[in-house]
Amino acid sequence: MKVGLCGTGRMGSALVLRLLETGHDVTVWNRDMSKTAPLVEAGAKTAPSPAAVAQASEVVISMLLNADAIEAVYAGDNGLLKTDLTGKLVIDMSTVLPETEEKLAERVRAAGGAYVECPVGGTVGPARTGKLLGFVGGADADVARAHPLLEQLCARIEHVGPPGAGARLKLAVNLPLLVYWQALGEALSLAKPLGLAPERLIDILSNTSGTPTAMKMKGPDIASALAGKPLGPAAFDVTAARKDLTVMRDYAQRLGVSAPTVEAALRGYDEAIAAGKGGEDAVSVPVYWSTRK
Ligand SMILES: NC(=O)c1ccc[n+]([C@@H]2O[C@H](COP(=O)([O-])OP(=O)(O)OC[C@H]3O[C@@H](n4cnc5c(N)ncnc54)[C@H](OP(=O)(O)O)[C@@H]3O)[C@@H](O)[C@H]2O)c1
Repeated sequence: MKVGLCGTGRMGSALVLRLLETGHDVTVWNRDMSKTAPLVEAGAKTAPSPAAVAQASEVVISMLLNADAIEAVYAGDNGLLKTDLTGKLVIDMSTVLPETEEKLAERVRAAGGAYVECPVGGTVGPARTGKLLGFVGGADADVARAHPLLEQLCARIEHVGPPGAGARLKLAVNLPLLVYWQALGEALSLAKPLGLAPERLIDILSNTSGTPTAMKMKGPDIASALAGKPLGPAAFDVTAARKDLTVMRDYAQRLGVSAPTVEAALRGYDEAIAAGKGGEDAVSVPVYWSTRK
């Protein structure tokens, strides 16, 4: 299938490699086109604009940082909405507010296209290997059309309602994990007087009922960082995680529900960013919190 992808950041690039591996003809565009070079080497084509990606593709995926990026890529000069989308399926996988997805669905339909949102759980590794969790919003017929492609990217697909519904579930799913990183920083601070070796302490904490499954993968990185070793390249950085927390806060406000742990976690993330940790993986939040002076 001819698949286009706009937004070849960490997640978008991993998705492109997966799409190539599963036999698709992939055309990509990114604001910073230098990031597409490894993808071209792997077999992707480039197009000079999002509109040109759409013209070259049957399905267009976008994987963008936030609502501003969506606005630029869809409605900017030569954006996706500036071309006739008749017969094309557009799938946005970014993590944004439900209302951003609702409005985007209307605009894509007005340009002639079909629209499905599929924000995802999982990070770069699962994106690279087709093991994401897909939280899907869209009309039944559009989702049925997207399903075969999404099955190649996701180990589990949950269609939970119309556009906007996927974003609602994605924000709910991500909330406990992002709060956990701050909570872990506080737990590590409480355990500090014990003087246990980081590896042992993380091993104990990782085998308790309050621990998310993410610790299976991230625990060793955290232990190593607590022992003073640098963290490897970020899969999901502190700045992007903070963005997700602000989207959760804003969505909770719109719903009229209070989310005090999100507000509290945000303060920890803000402090980590102020200390220069914004570009590091989100697991630097507990490391920073428990080692700060
Ligand atoms: N990383 C993860 O583990 C993970 C997991 C699940 C969901 N997500 C979500 O997936 C989305 C992408 O995350 P990521 O980790 O791939 O982020 P990333 O590496 O920072 O990539 C962000 C992408 O958005 C583009 N972008 C940002 N601002 C833009 C603008 N104003 N105009 C045009 N393009 C813009 C970037 O283009 P440039 O390269 O030109 O800056 C890049 O392609 C986010 O919504 C994130 O919350 C991430």
